[in-house]
Amino acid sequence: MDLLVVGSGFFGLTIAERAAASGLTVTVIDRRDHIGGNAFSEDDPATGIEVHRYGAHLFHTSNPAVWEYVNRFTTFTDYVHRVYTNHKGIVFPLPINLGTINQFFNAAYSPDEAKALVHELAGEFDTKDAANLEEKGIALIGRPLYEAFIRDYTAKQWQTDPKNLPAEVISRLPVRYNYDNRYFNDTWEGLPTDGYTAWIERMADHPNIEVKLSTDFFDESQPFNKRATVGQLPIVYTGPVDRYFDYTEGALSWRTLDFEREVLDVGDFQGTSVMNYADADIPYTRIHEFKHFHPERADRHPADKTIIMREFSRFATREDEPYYPVNTSQDRAGLLAYRELAKGEQDVLFGGRLGTYQYLDMHMAIGSALSMWHNQLA
Ligand code: FDA
Repeated sequence: MDLLVVGSGFFGLTIAERAAASGLTVTVIDRRDHIGGNAFSEDDPATGIEVHRYGAHLFHTSNPAVWEYVNRFTTFTDYVHRVYTNHKGIVFPLPINLGTINQFFNAAYSPDEAKALVHELAGEFDTKDAANLEEKGIALIGRPLYEAFIRDYTAKQWQTDPKNLPAEVISRLPVRYNYDNRYFNDTWEGLPTDGYTAWIERMADHPNIEVKLSTDFFDESQPFNKRATVGQLPIVYTGPVDRYFDYTEGALSWRTLDFEREVLDVGDFQGTSVMNYADADIPYTRIHEFKHFHPERADRHPADKTIIMREFSRFATREDEPYYPVNTSQDRAGLLAYRELAKGEQDVLFGGRLGTYQYLDMHMAIGSALSMWHNQLA
């Protein structure tokens, strides 16, 4: 074996695929019982509807090298992501756009009129002086829109009143002064035609790649563990960086999500794939309805059943799946210390969202793995 890859998410599999294609033999281990990391999806046995187990995954990129690379393994549907939000029992389009503003103020403002209104409302605070997230939000879009669409949703995401969150959590709140409610601005967007798992399996389908599931790098009873392999061969590690160093510089903090999945006896529950819930009295942040990600599969989906998944956000304990870095000043200091330690690890490269403590979209994970391959491994 020439290379050990710890973690079979998009980062690890991109490295493994490139290494195998160049003639190296690679072993990929993952502690979960499936490949694909958080992008993994599965067909629900009762309905055949594809469910994204770790939350909705929408592929989008403007990076031509990534787009060319991913198209080697899958084609993409023409799905275009749009999100709506329920505020006080009324549904508004997101991101905040001219449609949202006119519906909210019961008006028919032109783009210039809406811009002038938001500018005037935002005058209550200056972004430069904002002492917390609430003041920053008001300084960016004005109090009425902030209180309706940002305040309670953010409080639910962080389990914290935005008055007690640092202003840096948001740098901007995009407002579109037209009726465009396309969620992503990227050049390419779509969902893998045969699903995420088929895509991921094709990446790993090479005679030089061996995948070992339910295999934890820190479990010394299995042969590919840390103690037995570090220094013996090159390793790309995509698990949590603090776990690698036994939390010596402190545990980095994460938010996690809890999902409640339900099969309903209705053909269509909400008419769209993602509905946010902006208000404090609803405990979940959003509901996904998976059927709507694949309208082209309508003839395979049951007409009288649908699957929804409610999403709840909270701080992660060490036992939870880490999803979004919290990134406090203490976390940033810890990360710098871990980066120093990482430099001293012989033949171990740290990558991916857990290995670098960074939120990465799929195209970013793939793009940074391709860079690591070209710049440090090839
Ligand atoms: P990833 O977490 O996928 O893989 C790491 C792997 O390492 C895991 O399989 C894990 O089991 C394994 N591992 C960890 N410790 C180990 C150990 N000790 N031993 C062995 N294996 C170990 N992106 C996007 O483009 N569009 C989207 O819509 C979304 N949506 C989204 C929703 C939610 C809720 C989240 C949390 C994330 C997204 N993403 C996303 C981001 C996407 O999930 C992300 O880009 C990829 O998962 C990154 O791939 P990685 O390989 O870096 O990590």
